[in-house]
Amino acid sequence: GPFEPFQRDVPIPAVARPVRSSKKLEEYVMDMQPGMAEILPGYETPILGYNGSFPGPTVRARRGREVQILQRNRTNRSLNVHLHGGVTMPQYDGHPHDAIPAGEERLYKYPNVAHSSTLWYHDHAHGETAQTLFAGLAAFYLLDDPDDNHLDLPQGDFDVPLMITDRSFNKDGSFRYRLDLDRGFRGDTILVNGAVAPRMKVERRLYRLRFLNASNARAYNLVLGNDRDMIQIGSDGGLLPAPVKRKIIPMEPAERVDVIVDFRQFGVGSKVILHNQGGEPSTSAVMRFDVVRGTAEEARIPKLMREDDELPEPNAERSWPLTFQGLAGGASVWQIGGGGFSEMRIDCRPRQGSTELWTWRNLSNRTHPMHIHGYHFKIVSMNGKTPHPADQGWKDTVAVYPNETVVVMPYFDYFPGRYVFHCHAAEHGDMSMMGQMEVVA
Ligand code: C2O
Ligand code: CU
Repeated sequence: GPFEPFQRDVPIPAVARPVRSSKKLEEYVMDMQPGMAEILPGYETPILGYNGSFPGPTVRARRGREVQILQRNRTNRSLNVHLHGGVTMPQYDGHPHDAIPAGEERLYKYPNVAHSSTLWYHDHAHGETAQTLFAGLAAFYLLDDPDDNHLDLPQGDFDVPLMITDRSFNKDGSFRYRLDLDRGFRGDTILVNGAVAPRMKVERRLYRLRFLNASNARAYNLVLGNDRDMIQIGSDGGLLPAPVKRKIIPMEPAERVDVIVDFRQFGVGSKVILHNQGGEPSTSAVMRFDVVRGTAEEARIPKLMREDDELPEPNAERSWPLTFQGLAGGASVWQIGGGGFSEMRIDCRPRQGSTELWTWRNLSNRTHPMHIHGYHFKIVSMNGKTPHPADQGWKDTVAVYPNETVVVMPYFDYFPGRYVFHCHAAEHGDMSMMGQMEVVA
């Protein structure tokens, strides 16, 4: 049947080509447009994509060199591009009200001032992100830093971005969306880089795998083979201070996890399955690695990767209850801090250059992956406990589980201005689970 796993080689998204490039600046032009994707063998699936592809083209950026992307909206709806995890001035951040009307274009400038990290860009149309993300407007943006070269991490063909999403399909092969305002969309089929549970040939050597959960609302628990070690080296905000061995990696929507897998531990001919543990049976197979004979090993696993940053003492504490709130008239909506989102409403005014302590209090029975635009944060505690070592690096999205409390410390280090923060279960964010801050100079 069309949903059999491991039938296709994993597609690697094309790398975007700049139209102009210099030492200081790279310029790109992209068309957000309808396209056809080959997702199920023998079918064409209509999508919306950057340059008409799903996933869209990967942008390879370098720290210290600006990227400008002219995004042309060739669809018949308003769209809006957000570089998730990027440090950008607010006018280029894809604030929900900065839409690109149908047929128009907008220039986005990304200064690439932050550490190397696995970022992604995706649509952020106000109140419609669940649909535009689902339709395919998502792509990688990999920020490298020449200062990391001495780490000798796997590069080129051995540094592989893997975008995990879930979908359901109609009989004609088109995506089937089912609105679920409570849990968000959950499909019955897992895709990696837009192919149903694909396979990937790997040599017996080290690989860097960059996982991104670009699903609307599904969380994953990634397990390799029979509980083999994956060595996590990075999270949302880039490299961890030191590698962390993991047998199971939970990933909420929008989170990124960079791992090194040592395929030398498997014999030639091994087939190693990456599972999603704990999901419905049809969502268990994520992809398979087929081990083939390989070249000589070059990469290694560094012991230390990044110095811990010194941060200023927090100068404010804020508490954000996360609720499913009844409205007059009987409907309910997801909310942060007991209010809905509006362009006029400013929930807080942190000072530029400061840190704060933010407490997410989940008063509901659903998980909320909480995301802050424009800045990164450290996780201080998760339900009163010290976070797992893999969660101690810089983050931009954190899972707040049902009836739990997570304390984070955002660092408002770069640009002042208005940014949003929200739940990244796309249906929740669309349904008012979004706040706005104004960082003041
Ligand atoms: Cu990845 Cu405001 O989102
Ligand atoms: Cu939510």
